[in-house]
Amino acid sequence: LHSRLAIETPVTAAAAAPVKAASLHILYGTQTGNAERVAMDAAANARALGLSPEVAGLDDITMEQLAAMERLIVITSTYGEGEMPDNAQLFWEAISASTAPRLESLRFGVLALGDTGYDGFCQAGKLIDMRLEQLGATRILARRDCDIDYEDPAAAWVGQALPLAAENAGGVPVSGGTLAVAVPKTAGWGRKNPYPSRLAVNRRLSGSASAKEIRHYEFDLGDSGLEYEAGDALGVMPVNDPALVSLLLSRLGADPHAPAGETSLETALTGKFEISTPSRDLIAEVERRAGNEELTHVLRNGDKEALDAFLWGKDICDLLALAPPSAFSAADLLALLKPLQHRAYSISSSPHAAAGGVHLTIASVRYHADGRDRGGVCSTFLADRVAEGAHAGIFVSQNKSFRLPADNDAPVIMVGPGTGIAPFRAFLQERRARGARGRNWLFFGDQHRESDFIYEDELSEMSRDGLLTRLDLAFSRDQKEKIYVQTRMRENGKALFAWLEEGAAFYVCGDASRMAHDVDKALVEIIATHGGLTADKAADYVAGLKREKRYLRDVY
Ligand code: 2AM
Repeated sequence: LHSRLAIETPVTAAAAAPVKAASLHILYGTQTGNAERVAMDAAANARALGLSPEVAGLDDITMEQLAAMERLIVITSTYGEGEMPDNAQLFWEAISASTAPRLESLRFGVLALGDTGYDGFCQAGKLIDMRLEQLGATRILARRDCDIDYEDPAAAWVGQALPLAAENAGGVPVSGGTLAVAVPKTAGWGRKNPYPSRLAVNRRLSGSASAKEIRHYEFDLGDSGLEYEAGDALGVMPVNDPALVSLLLSRLGADPHAPAGETSLETALTGKFEISTPSRDLIAEVERRAGNEELTHVLRNGDKEALDAFLWGKDICDLLALAPPSAFSAADLLALLKPLQHRAYSISSSPHAAAGGVHLTIASVRYHADGRDRGGVCSTFLADRVAEGAHAGIFVSQNKSFRLPADNDAPVIMVGPGTGIAPFRAFLQERRARGARGRNWLFFGDQHRESDFIYEDELSEMSRDGLLTRLDLAFSRDQKEKIYVQTRMRENGKALFAWLEEGAAFYVCGDASRMAHDVDKALVEIIATHGGLTADKAADYVAGLKREKRYLRDVY
């Protein structure tokens, strides 16, 4: 079954009295590893209560197994705008089908992780919670929906849920109280205390003629003790643009040195709060105070597209400009701002190739709107304000579900246009370091070969020396018709299907809304065409790949 189950089951000394299995299951739905980590922490706490939890991904269990469960804790994130995370999609299909089993004897609780900045906040958790109830299961306790600062509420919920699950389950009686869910960290460095790392390299990869600015960064791990694996992400703590802070201060008519908590207003706005993207609360409050007809109209109308169109490109300064100058004091505004968050980027190096360092490959987000240059909070922080030799706060964010096959002989197919190449550069370096003999196939592309073929030298060398068995390139704007990575997949559909039949793992990284969707469609079509399968059977084939962890995505 799932190798993790073996690790999660406590090994008891042979002489110890047999421990009655307490039949608590903890199932997680995860996209970037957070929900998985919370699940692992919950399992550790459950063990401390004398329970023997079994932990698995939602997709790893069958409906028969679900029907046999007595106590279940589901911990799931939501991906994109309200979708199930990749490792929960098969589970969701199965429980939402009319053939799903009745679950009258199941007691359950759902912990949902999400981000109020997106539509469909905690939607995956809400759906699973509702569906389990429909199937006849009984809640141990109410669902909890956590925003990005999830650690404390998640810990509190787990602390409540476990004693309830332990009742009548052979666990030790507990008097309540909160159990700890560790803040994710490796070597003591985490989201709440990032490691101040020296940036050794900050270099532009894309050519000067490119429409995009893609940069290569190398951070020193020094004596941090930080460790990572190919497939992990790196959290980077940004610092806001001082020019934007000044603009905001002037919009507020506020004194930069006015106190804000333990620091000055200026310091707080620079390092403690998100000051670019307005929160929902802020938008609603501006609407209340601004008397702007258009904003009122799009907000009250419930027309999401009109609202998105109205908000497009507008940052907090733009929104405040809709209201009279004195509508918001600095204190009003601070109460409506969200805490400044790290940004996570797929690591583009293998630890075995980048000795003592960690590499990132990031497109700087820049645009011009309403007479002002604007930029992505963290990408422009790194590009413009962290010189080589300067420091930035980082930590490793493990992604255990995005890994190379353990079998070094297994073939690997990677689809990573644009900065989607990042984890595949890491994978290729890692395959080389392992001396893996399995074949490697990379699909890469971007707008123009001349300016956007990043890492061309490295990839060419990998092709020459045989590490890269195949490299297929798709430059979309070098000819009249668009050529995309999925165009190249279709052209090579026969070989691609043959690789899959030979056990290849299929990986996708990059844009979720269009590219990953279209690549998925191409994959199903290729399997149907070259496998001689109906559309339904081809979809089953793809579901099989997912179940076997041979179709993995790191998409955003
Ligand atoms: P385009 O911008 O010329 O349309 C990286 O951003 C590359 O992905 C670009 O070449 C871009 O092409 C391409 N791209 C855009 N939409 C895509 C889609 N739906 N599927 C695959 N690639 C796409």
